[in-house]
Amino acid sequence: MTSHPKPHGTELLIKAQENMPLGVADSYRYWGQEDTVFVKSVKGCTLTDCDGQDFIDFRLAYGPIILGYRDNRIDQEVVKCILEQGTISGFSSELDSQVIDLVKAMCPHIEKMRFANSGTEAVMASVRTARGFTGRNKIVVVEGGFHGLYDEMMWKSDVDNWNTASQAAPQVIPFGGGIPVSTREHLEIVPLNDFAVIDEVFKRCGEDIAAIVIEPIMGNCGSICATQEYMQKLRDVCDEKGALLIMDEVKTGFRVAKGGVSELYGIKADLTTYAKAIGNGYPVAAFGGRKDVMDKISFDQDGVTHGGTYTANLIGLTAAKATLTILKDTDALATINKVGGEIREVLSKVFTHFSIEHKFSGPDSMFGIHFGKEVPQNYRDWKKTDSQLYVRFALNLIENGIMLEPDSREPWFICESHKDVDLQWLEEVAKKSMGDAIAQTEAEK
Ligand SMILES: Cc1ncc(COP(=O)(O)O)c(C=O)c1O
Repeated sequence: MTSHPKPHGTELLIKAQENMPLGVADSYRYWGQEDTVFVKSVKGCTLTDCDGQDFIDFRLAYGPIILGYRDNRIDQEVVKCILEQGTISGFSSELDSQVIDLVKAMCPHIEKMRFANSGTEAVMASVRTARGFTGRNKIVVVEGGFHGLYDEMMWKSDVDNWNTASQAAPQVIPFGGGIPVSTREHLEIVPLNDFAVIDEVFKRCGEDIAAIVIEPIMGNCGSICATQEYMQKLRDVCDEKGALLIMDEVKTGFRVAKGGVSELYGIKADLTTYAKAIGNGYPVAAFGGRKDVMDKISFDQDGVTHGGTYTANLIGLTAAKATLTILKDTDALATINKVGGEIREVLSKVFTHFSIEHKFSGPDSMFGIHFGKEVPQNYRDWKKTDSQLYVRFALNLIENGIMLEPDSREPWFICESHKDVDLQWLEEVAKKSMGDAIAQTEAEK
């Protein structure tokens, strides 16, 4: 519980609990009766809660903010669009192709695209397209990956309750109630960077595998990365067995590089999903890739159906056009990488000061922190890190004015506005927060 009094926040939560389950619009926003955050305003990389406490925000709404909150360059275009063009018509506009041309300029493997409103929708549509194209059912996903809140993707390896000494794979469980067992039927869950398991799965049911869906840099698992060899293995096995490779770049797209993970690894997916950074916080998403695969979306009898009332709405696409133009034409991502590197250095200095073994994973724009000797190679390795210490450290950072998710599976997100963060202040806050975390751990022994 934070020692900053939060009378207004508590009042708002109690009122909200009369109206919504848990009192929040998304279950992950519920941080308990004392610590659930109600926000008054955001600007740049600063978040101000409803009781007036300011935070430098490294959570950035789970990643979409790439330039900064309320960036005038984006917001002015959106306001102009609303006032002069409208928000939605249920018809096409020239913005559709303008945005796709910008994506293609940065991501040359994208030949055709379609839009969606959220990462979940983009993943659902790309999986359906892959099934339609291949005529197969099964989808291979990676332990610790997250692909949105729809039934089939709401199965997870229960690493939280897995014994690290066990040779057996963690149990696969649903995210909770309401997920039909039948939605598990076509899902194969494999540990990252394990060649033998991929071979085994393709040997057992390769004829029916439509696609592998992977976040090569796991934005939902501490930015643990696929190795170059593993990504090449997936590319090769898909080519050999007639399956498609889907890269879920909802978190990494237009963040880790202009061309996303695909550019970093030099590996082309057949389909890629984008959301988050594509619109700097406006609700817009997309999926696309090989022309022949995307053209399966058609009115043919076996063609794939895709669309939706709000698909390619003018607000989302205007934000995407303005954001992508900046990312393409300026050195915003270079700035983000530089600042992210500096922030990592500051944190590393603090951990070293306290003799804490630590490793970073992932790129500077979206890095994970792991307290342990080795960089985790998969979700099971993550369980071997000292995530308890991380939670304590993170909660103390929040107490001291740095916002982040208190779970080391969520990376630190950097945006262009972080270039103005006072690194000396950051170092002092990190030092105090870690000192307190160590003292709390000692006191519990
Ligand atoms: C890799 C990945 N895919 C899909 C999603 C789902 O996106 P959304 O929350 O926009 O539906 C997320 C959300 O965090 C994600 O990180």
